[in-house]
Amino acid sequence: MPIVRLVGIRPFQNKPLKDKYFVNTTRIDRIRSFVLRAGRTTAGQQRAIDELGPQFLIPFQVHALDLQQAFSGSSRPKILEIGFGMGETTAKIAALRTEEDFLAIEVHPPGVGALLKLIGENHLTNLRLIRHDAVEVLEKMLSPNSLDGIHIYFADPWHKKRHHKRRLIQVEFVKLLVSRLKPDAYLHLATDWHNYAEQMLLVLNTELALINTSLEKIQIETFSVTDVASEIELAKESFKEFKPTLEQLYSKHTGYVERPAYRPITKFENRGLKLGHGVWDLVYKKK
Ligand SMILES: C[S@@+](CC[C@H](N)C(=O)[O-])C[C@H]1O[C@@H](n2cnc3c(N)ncnc32)[C@H](O)[C@@H]1O
Repeated sequence: MPIVRLVGIRPFQNKPLKDKYFVNTTRIDRIRSFVLRAGRTTAGQQRAIDELGPQFLIPFQVHALDLQQAFSGSSRPKILEIGFGMGETTAKIAALRTEEDFLAIEVHPPGVGALLKLIGENHLTNLRLIRHDAVEVLEKMLSPNSLDGIHIYFADPWHKKRHHKRRLIQVEFVKLLVSRLKPDAYLHLATDWHNYAEQMLLVLNTELALINTSLEKIQIETFSVTDVASEIELAKESFKEFKPTLEQLYSKHTGYVERPAYRPITKFENRGLKLGHGVWDLVYKKK
């Protein structure tokens, strides 16, 4: 019998409008890729939520969303972004690529307020937001073969080994992503954590419905034999966490791509690059 519990994101504090975006759903328990960080929603972000929420914030629902209707009848290509943080990158890409529509998901309330504020300041019309767990949005609201692209930038790296199971990019989640992409649609990820970049690469390279667009060949550097899954782990039905195989450790793999020009360099990323840290972009096409 699976464990079932009530889940949901705490409603924004005390304002009537906010409850509309808060949905409690009953579902099978699972490991989450995020923790809801404490963080105050500023007055400006709150104003943006109150004023622009009704137009740009789509409430979570447990049935399929009509994407064309969600973008005021637009038939432009639909790109999904997962975990937009404070939304600076999302707003810049939406402003640059006006011939596409962007559906952006984040659980962190101040981030939602911040991006709504950017929508207002930049007069963006091709962006819609959902404040909810992206896994459930993909499962419940997005139909198979409905997306032209997916962006996942700087997903939480969960540095410690005992937390690796919380990383978003795992075999099953990638299957869910791929099912929502149309044939020929793309998947673009970026990370500044080498070990996570290698995990992404190994998980995505083994997904048969995806083609890695990179031309380079790389060898795994951050995983070792101690990370390989044991026979006992593999025998468990509940074992879902990515672990490399011995063969993967010693083979060459199709690797990374240059940062596509549409993805702006964030302040945080720039600081890291100046300190000599790496950033890895991965771009795949669905067959
Ligand atoms: C490290 S931040 C990166 C934010 C942004 N993409 C950037 O490049 O600055 C990762 C974000 O993903 C969000 N996140 C993680 N798991 C999520 C999920 N399952 N659904 C929605 N958002 C998620 C977190 O709340 C966090 O804001």
